[in-house]
Amino acid sequence: MPLDNRNILQLVPDYSVPRYTSYPTAPNFCDKISNNIYTSWLKNLDKDKEISLYIHIPFCNSLCYFCGCHTNVANTYAPIESYVNSLLREIALLGEELRNKFNVSHIHFGGGTPSILRGAELWMIMLSIKKNFNILENCEIAMEIDPRFYKKNLTTILNKYGFNRISIGVQDFSKDVQTLTNRIQSFKTTKKIVEHFRENKISNINIDLMYGLPKQTVRTFSDTLKKIVTLEPDRISIFGYGHVPWKKKHQKLIGDELLNNESRLKFYQLASHYFLSNGYEAFGIDHYAKKSSSIVQKAKEKKLQRNFQGYSEDSAEILIGIGASSISYLPKGYVQNIAQVDGYISSLKENKLPILRGHEFRAKDRIYGTIIKELMCYLSVDLNQVAEKFEKNINLFLPNVKKLQPFVDAGCVNFENHTLSIKPEARPLVRNICSVFDQYFKPEKNKYSFGI
Ligand SMILES: C[S@@+](CC[C@H](N)C(=O)[O-])C[C@H]1O[C@@H](n2cnc3c(N)ncnc32)[C@H](O)[C@@H]1O
Ligand code: SF4
Repeated sequence: MPLDNRNILQLVPDYSVPRYTSYPTAPNFCDKISNNIYTSWLKNLDKDKEISLYIHIPFCNSLCYFCGCHTNVANTYAPIESYVNSLLREIALLGEELRNKFNVSHIHFGGGTPSILRGAELWMIMLSIKKNFNILENCEIAMEIDPRFYKKNLTTILNKYGFNRISIGVQDFSKDVQTLTNRIQSFKTTKKIVEHFRENKISNINIDLMYGLPKQTVRTFSDTLKKIVTLEPDRISIFGYGHVPWKKKHQKLIGDELLNNESRLKFYQLASHYFLSNGYEAFGIDHYAKKSSSIVQKAKEKKLQRNFQGYSEDSAEILIGIGASSISYLPKGYVQNIAQVDGYISSLKENKLPILRGHEFRAKDRIYGTIIKELMCYLSVDLNQVAEKFEKNINLFLPNVKKLQPFVDAGCVNFENHTLSIKPEARPLVRNICSVFDQYFKPEKNKYSFGI
C-alpha cells in the first residue's frame, strides 16, 4: 500500500539533521588533528591504493542568496590568481609528503565556481597535479560550472586535460524564484551550455536543482522539471534547500517566507515522480540518473561512495581535499583545511599545510559510519552483516532499532531478518533515520539543515 504523506510528515523532526556527507559530520571534528598528524597519515598511505582528488575554488562571479557553499564573490581576478598560487604550493607540499606518485582515479573541481578560473590558472593546476600524481588513463575528471558566466575558451583546457564530466548549477527556472534568490539564469543560457559541452565531447552532464525555495509553485516547478528533462542530462541532483542563516548570513536576504515541511515534501515528490516516469532511476537520497548509466549499475551492485561531493562511483578509498575548507578522507580519519581564504593563503606562505581540524576514527565510528553510509546510498542495511564484519553482537544495535519503531509503525521502514529497509516513498526521511545511529548527534534547531 502506498504511504500516506501524513505518515511521512508526522516523522519529520522539529530539529535539524546532517546530510551525512561524512561520519562523524564536520561539526564534530576537533582541532587536535594537527599538521604533524596529517603528514604522518599521508606518509603511511598504502602506495598501491588509488586516490581521488578534490580541488575547491571558493570564488563566484555573483552571490546566490540561497547559497550554503564555502565561497566569496570575486570582483576582480587578482584574488583568484593569488589563491591559485597557494593551491599550487599545497599540491607541491602534498607531493613532498606523499613520497610516492599515487595513482589518481578521480579529480573533482568544486566550489564556489571553478569555471571562474581562466585557462592559464587551470592549466597550471592540472600541470602541477600531473607533476605530483599519476593521473590514470580512465580517470574521471569533473568540474562544476556556472553557465551564466562560462567563457567558452576554457573548454580548450578542459579538453586538453581530459575533463569528462560537467556539473551545471540551475536550481529553478521560475522568474520569481530567480529574482528573490539573485540568480537570473534563462533556460536558453542553460541549453546552450549543455549543447556546447556535448559538441566538445564532454557529454557526461549533471544538473543541480533545488526544492524548498520560497516562491516555488507547482506550476513553475513543473515547468522547470519539464525543461530539464528536454536537456537529457545523464544525472540530476535535487537538493532540499538548506536554510542555515546563522552560518550563512546572506540567506536572510531571501526573507522569511520559507516553505513548510508539507510543501517541501510536495515539491520533492513532484520532481521524483517526474524523473521516474521520464527514464530516470533514483539513487541515494536526492539523485537521479538515466537507467542505462553506470552509476545506476554501481548502485545496484552496492558500489557507491558517499562523500563531500555527494555520490560517486569512484572506487578510490582515499580522498585528498585541496584548497580552502576542503576535507580529506584517509584510512585513519578526516582532515579539514582552513576555510577562510586569507588564513589558507597565510599558512601556505609559511610552507605549512593549511590544517584547521579533523577527526581520528575510533572503532565505533567505522561501525556506525558503515550503517549510515549503507542507508544513505542504498536505503537499506543488513545489521547482521555489519555486526559480523566488525565482530560484534547484533544486540549492540537493538537500542537504535527500538528508536526506529515509530518509523516501522508508520510503514516507512521494514525490519526483517535483521535488515532495515526504508521504503522508496520515505526517502525524504533517510537522514532522520541515519541520525538514530549517529553517536554524536544531539537534536538542535540551528545546527544543520531542515529534517526533510
Ligand atoms: C558549488 S554549486 C554549483 C556550481 C556553481 N557554483 C553554480 O551554482 O552554478 C553546488 C550546488 O550546491 C547546491 N546548493 C547551494 N546552496 C545550497 C543550499 N543552501 N541548500 C541546498 N543546496 C545548495 C546548488 O544546487 C548548487 O548548484
Ligand atoms: S550557488 Fe554556486 S554560483 Fe551561486 S553563490 Fe553558491 S557556489 Fe556561487
